[in-house]
Formats: sequence, structure tokens, C-alpha cells
Amino acid sequence: MASPKRIGVLILCFALVCYVDAKPKTKPFASPDIYKGKNVAKDEISPGEKIVNVMSFGAIPDGKFDCTQAFMHAWRAACKSNVQARLLIPKGRFVVSTMFFAGPCLTPGPITIQVVGTVAATTDISEYANGEWLMFEELDGIKLIGGGTFDGMGKGSWATAENCEADESNNCVRNPSSIYFHNVRNGIIQNIKSVDPKGFHLFVTSCANIRLRLLKLTAPATSPNTDGIHISNSIDVKLSKNIIETGDDCVSMIQGVNNVTINKLKCGPGHGISIGSLGKYPEEQEVKDIRVKNCTMVGTTNGLRIKTWPDKYPGAASDITFGDIVMDKVKNPIIIDQEYECEPANCKKKPSLVNIKDVVFSNIRGTTISPIAVDLRCSKQFPCQDIKLQNIDLNLGPKPSGSRCANIKPIYTGVQRPAACL
Ligand SMILES: *[C@@H]1O[C@H](CO)[C@@H](O)[C@H](O)[C@H]1NC(C)=O
Ligand SMILES: *[C@@H]1O[C@H](CO)[C@@H](O)[C@H](O)[C@H]1NC(C)=O
Repeated sequence: MASPKRIGVLILCFALVCYVDAKPKTKPFASPDIYKGKNVAKDEISPGEKIVNVMSFGAIPDGKFDCTQAFMHAWRAACKSNVQARLLIPKGRFVVSTMFFAGPCLTPGPITIQVVGTVAATTDISEYANGEWLMFEELDGIKLIGGGTFDGMGKGSWATAENCEADESNNCVRNPSSIYFHNVRNGIIQNIKSVDPKGFHLFVTSCANIRLRLLKLTAPATSPNTDGIHISNSIDVKLSKNIIETGDDCVSMIQGVNNVTINKLKCGPGHGISIGSLGKYPEEQEVKDIRVKNCTMVGTTNGLRIKTWPDKYPGAASDITFGDIVMDKVKNPIIIDQEYECEPANCKKKPSLVNIKDVVFSNIRGTTISPIAVDLRCSKQFPCQDIKLQNIDLNLGPKPSGSRCANIKPIYTGVQRPAACL
């Protein structure tokens, strides 16, 4: 039975929901650190902030009980709060299936999700037929913090994972990502761990102004398609001080990504930092304004890679800088591959229609395990333009490594080891 007081609250909530729905807010665009003029970077409990503990909604942290309903009810209570609120996931192991953290929320500031314990995924893959694991959608202002862990429990799903990246048909079904940000503005994910996702650790799509920092993402080197951070169609994203050890790309950026900074990433094992594959779908938006700096790649298959499909769709990648990167036993430290999934240097397919220009590789040093440390294969139809190599110092044990160039005239300055293409 609802008490009159509860009914009052319900009516108030309803009124607020209507208000929000009827009049889409045009909040000033602010960084997630500065939200509506207030610095919210530090985790401080604001006066009167409501703590919504999932345990109060029936969650049991025993690693067995299915807490999905409890999490959903707790999320709704936090999101629909008209005073500042945070969802608290305390110590213990909470099992949850696929679920939405959907907005818009009514909290005056960014809503906080504080994960102290572990959130573990259910293992029956059929439950994920319609999407990802934890889906954060239609939110303006969210902080996901707390030092806790998301355990994707992916092991059992890897054997049957389809390799959608290398799949040319577009009807491949990806395994669900652990954390999915879709239509999120002004979001921070900080000091969070992810282990063994079924698919990507983090998938950021159609988002704006996102900070991803102090994350530790781990999965075995052999786990398929477990990209660390996969970004598409998003602007103003900043990654800093993340550690990614995984089975696929540490960071992958595909179409429509604009203004991304990656700072102080430690990557490996994994497939490195990738732009692309591009030109896979019709009408792809270009990738531009990407800065990667002060990163370390350890034992990765690729270091810094731009890859595009031959014989497919147009696209573009421009204004990309890679600076101050240390390679430690990396197979392909610097690679532009416009013959993706085609035999290198002997690809019989039509050239790629993706335009690559204004790319700088600067101060890239360390060791490689490949006889071709700098591999630049561009499209015959759209040769790469304004590609600069400055101070490249990559060594293959005691022997020198080599370079390969096709449809490109790199602009060289400073040290070149391996030697420049003739
Ligand atoms: C790029 O994104 C950063 C936030 O990561 C923002 O501060 C900056 O203003 C953006 N640059 C442009 C040109 O929009
Ligand atoms: C890398 O970090 C060093 C020291 O913090 C700094 O001096 C340098 O400018 C950084 N490199 C880039 C490309 O930002």
C-alpha cells in the first residue's frame, strides 16, 4: 500500500519526468570536470546527496543471486531523484545480466555510480541476444568510479566468438561489450577495472565529451575481439593513464571519431592502437583530430596502426599525431595498411577509397620483432598525403629492421632507424 507521502513523491517524480520530456534541456556544453560551472572532478559527496545502495533493493553479493532486478530498481531510484544521488555498489560480488542504465536523469549534477565491489555477468550468452551487457544510454552527466571491477565472465563465450572485425559481410554478431556508452554526454569513467569481457571491455558510441582514466582492462592475450576501448561516432574523448592488457586492440577508433586524445596508455599484450578498419560501411564519417602521446606498447602485434579495406567504401582519416611512444618488442610498430585482410604487397583487389592525410609519427623508439618495422602501404587510387616521420628509432635486436612504402612519399626528419624508403 502506498502511503500518502509516497503518492506525493510519485506525483512529484511524474511531474518532473513530464517536465524533462516535454522540454528537452539545452544544457551548456561543459567538460565533465566542469559540470554546469562547478568542478566535479573530485569525488565528493555533496550535502544532502542521496546514497542509493543496491542492497536496499534486494541485491545479495554472494556471487550467485541474480541482482538484475535489484540493480534496475536502484538505478531508477537514483536517476529519478531530484536531489543529487549516487548508486552505490558496495563490497561483494553481484551477478547481473544484461541491463540498461537509461536516462535522462533528474539529479541536478552528474549522477554517480560508485562501484566498490565486483559486478559479474551471467554466463548464458542467449540472454545477450539484443545488446551489450551494461548499457548506459541517453545520459548527460555521469560518473562511473569507485575502484571496483566489472567481470564479464567471458571465458565460456570466446570459443564461439565471431570475428566481426575481419568479417566482410556486415551481418556478423559481436559478443556483448561489458560497458556500453551510447548517446552519453559529459561522462567520466575513472578508477575502474574490467576483466574478461565477452566482447569489448568498453564501447563508446555517439557520445560527446567523455573522460576515461585510470582504468585497468585485462583479458588473456588469446581472447578474441576483446578490444579495450572501442570508439565510434564520438567527439571530444580523452583517455589518460589507462593500462590495457587484452586479446585485441587496446584502443580502436572507427568512423566518425573526432578530437580524441590518448595520453599515457600502457598497452600490451594486445593488438595496439588502431584507427580503423575504415571504408567497411557505406557513408562512413571521417576520423580526424586524434592525438596519441606518451604511450608504451609492450609485446603487442601492432603499435600504431591505420587500416582500411580495399575494394569497398570511401572514407577519410586526417590530422593524426603519434608522439613520444615507446615500443617494447612490438611486431608492427608503425603500420598503415590500406590492403586490410588482403595479401600484403600483392593484393589483387581494387584499391581502398579511404583518404589518409596529415599524419605525424614523432619520437617513436624502442624494439621490434619484425624485419619491417615501418610498413606504409597506401591506396593506389588515393596515395597517402603529408605523412611525416620524425625521429624514429626502432631496433630489431642487434640487426637493423626495414621499411616498406607503397603509394606514399613520407616526409622524413631526424633519425630514421629503420632507414627511410628510397
Ligand atoms: C577537444 O576535446 C577536448 C576535451 O577532451 C576539449 O577540451 C577541446 O575543446 C576539444 N577541441 C575542439 C577543437 O573542439
Ligand atoms: C610526454 O611527457 C613528457 C614528460 O611529461 C612531456 O615533456 C612531453 O611533452 C610529452 N609528450 C607529448 C607528445 O606530449
